[in-house]
Amino acid sequence: MKIKFQPSLKSAKGALVVPIFSDDLKKLPKYIPAPVSKILKQLITTTPFDAKRGELLSTYIDEKKLPAKLLLVGFGKGKNYHAKRARYQAGWIGKSLKSAKLKEAAILFPKPLEAHANAFFEALMSAQYDIGKLKSKNSKSTLEKVTFITDSAKPLQPHLERAQIIDTAISMVKDLVNSPSNYVDAETLAKEARRIAKANRYKIAIFKNKELKKMAWGGLLAVNQGCKKDAQAIVLEYNGGKKKESPIVLVGKGIIFDTGGYNMKPGSAMENMHLDMAGGATVLGVFQTLKELGIKKNVVGIIPTAENLVSDTAYRPTDIITMFDGQTVEITNTDAEGRMVLADGLAYGSKFDPEMLISVATLTGAVGVALGDRYCGVFSNDIAIRKELVEVGKEVDDLGWGLPLPKDYREKMKSKLADLRNYDQGTGRLAGSSKGAGFLSYFVGKNKWAHLDIGGTAFSSDPKPYQTPGATAHGLQMLIRFLEKH
Ligand code: BES
Ligand code: MN
Ligand code: ZN
Repeated sequence: MKIKFQPSLKSAKGALVVPIFSDDLKKLPKYIPAPVSKILKQLITTTPFDAKRGELLSTYIDEKKLPAKLLLVGFGKGKNYHAKRARYQAGWIGKSLKSAKLKEAAILFPKPLEAHANAFFEALMSAQYDIGKLKSKNSKSTLEKVTFITDSAKPLQPHLERAQIIDTAISMVKDLVNSPSNYVDAETLAKEARRIAKANRYKIAIFKNKELKKMAWGGLLAVNQGCKKDAQAIVLEYNGGKKKESPIVLVGKGIIFDTGGYNMKPGSAMENMHLDMAGGATVLGVFQTLKELGIKKNVVGIIPTAENLVSDTAYRPTDIITMFDGQTVEITNTDAEGRMVLADGLAYGSKFDPEMLISVATLTGAVGVALGDRYCGVFSNDIAIRKELVEVGKEVDDLGWGLPLPKDYREKMKSKLADLRNYDQGTGRLAGSSKGAGFLSYFVGKNKWAHLDIGGTAFSSDPKPYQTPGATAHGLQMLIRFLEKH
């Protein structure tokens, strides 16, 4: 989508979007050009329109120098205007232009929006995401050209550039997560990682079965045992900080498809299990932006990828696995596979002498039961980091909520036969997310560590106004913002 700024309306193509605050209805403000004001005054007296939040009024006008379609968008009260409102409103605008199959639009730009321009641009782009890329006849209807009518183009330009960088990463994550597993497998993720590394001159290492066996990534290999294709561990390194500065290590779950293994998921629970590499895709998304945003940190990204299938070679319940760090794990449920691959990833990450480790994973369905599709679960062994993640998340509408990681639940992950078990048969699914995180905590050593459980948020059937059904890229912006600010 091409976006430009212009001080006044020139082209009469497509639609004219007029955002309007309810307090401004009585006396229309200056950003609305005179000919438009004239039409509005008339329109408002004949058609009910209160400019409430999200209220849309679409009509056709017959005015020589104006576009034929006029879209009035209620912005609600001007008081307490904030970024989230800008995102939602951009979503409503973006979606209605998209469903009207318009290729071009001009949008008037009210003053209060300037402070949240970045959020507004980014959400407008996000709303154009196309979920139908695999249709043989792509009926793509996305907005191609948007002109903002404003006289403060200069200060807005950097916000636009940032939004474009972020949107590219968001679209990439969504494409990876939305694509079925016969389109995106471990090799596809590796290829994408290589592309990102090459474009940005990052260091990259990719380990496949042979090396993984030598290095003893027992957890990752066990989960992938039922799959003919190799498991892969992708390791990316970005040096934006000082030379000897300890890196922040991100570990993303890369399960290509999660059938549950021999503890097989029932059909309905397996439906969207191609989403199970969302954590890994999120880490790739972060790396897509690091260099372009000029983030001044050293960052390592680790993505253990495997496919949780059934076959005569698959791992079974009761197997006891020796993990990368030497701890042994009794498999009490093959469907608790994410923690097995992440545990190896975290233990490997500890070798980088990290400032902290952050895992991001569609680890449990339980987190969706607790928090739904708007808040991901945020765990940490350091409460200040947990708080920081929740706070930066709020800034970018990537919401998170702190969940507990108490000793009582960690203890439940101990086994009578091995050091640990991957599932607590005793209390079953109760506190499933805390126990999943609790299992991971045994693999981070003395390091600071945070964990985002995006099991409820990575995919949504009831998306936000600026999102599309399916992948949401939840967590991506939270992590980017965290790396920028921390
Ligand atoms: N990938 C799933 C978690 C998941 C479920 C993510 C639904 C998104 C939507 C994970 O591997 C899993 O199967 N978790 C089990 C954990 C249990 C066996 C301890 C679950 O949630 O039922
Ligand atoms: Mn599973
Ligand atoms: Zn899984």
